[in-house]
Amino acid sequence: MPLQEILDVVAQDSEEPALVRSIDWTRLPRHVAIIMDGNGRWAKQRHKRRVEGHRAGIHAVRDVVEASARLGLEVLTLYAFSVENWKRPKTEVSTLMALLKRYLRLELNTLLKNNIRFQVIGRTEELSPDIRSELQRGMERTASCTGLLFNIALNYGGRAEITDAVRRLVADAQRNGRQPAEIGEETIASYLYTAGQPDPDLLIRTSGELRISNFLLWQIAYSEIWVTEVLWPDFRRRHLLQAIADYQKRER
Ligand code: FPP
Repeated sequence: MPLQEILDVVAQDSEEPALVRSIDWTRLPRHVAIIMDGNGRWAKQRHKRRVEGHRAGIHAVRDVVEASARLGLEVLTLYAFSVENWKRPKTEVSTLMALLKRYLRLELNTLLKNNIRFQVIGRTEELSPDIRSELQRGMERTASCTGLLFNIALNYGGRAEITDAVRRLVADAQRNGRQPAEIGEETIASYLYTAGQPDPDLLIRTSGELRISNFLLWQIAYSEIWVTEVLWPDFRRRHLLQAIADYQKRER
């Protein structure tokens, strides 16, 4: 889509056309990664159960995914479930998994319509067979889409990812006789779940926490970080645009 057309579409969508006009469309981040946080607090403020916050968070996911595709971003990565999240109460974990499954079922056509390729990053082999088959279906059906690459980080941990990469790298080196001195940064990057993708230019975290929480540890070495007090269920495309506008003001 030509830039002017994208601009018009986003301006129509957005509640803040002035903000849209302030974006430099020639300098968009290629990869935006988001730590979605604050679902529990959102629910608590409304005297609801925590899972209601996760349910409401799905609306934010929908809006941000569609906006990212329309903007022409190359990659969007959302942190949906960490390796530590298994410690949460059983009912919360099962609701999160059910929400993911439902999201994929209901959104598959929208992903296809928007030319979005869907991919999961994380230790997916530890997920239940029904979730895995839903994820597999989503990945297969969108495999030939050429627009936004949408990564969902699921049962993801940055240290776990690096550990998995090192294990495979060492096994391959033992097989093919690769010497330690031949292993460079690009070799390690090529063993990560995100192999072949640009590193995030912009990392967003909602709900005001100033932590990385074991997210994309290798890949965010040079990312700009943008933290907002907005809780994830309230996050919408205008916040994404604010983050991009702010990112563009920084000297890189
Ligand atoms: C953090 O809030 C959020 C999560 C652990 C889960 C995010 C998941 C979703 C929005 C739903 C499924 C996602 C997709 C991509 C379909 P928290 O519970 O830690 O909030 P708190 O810190 O306020 O307690």
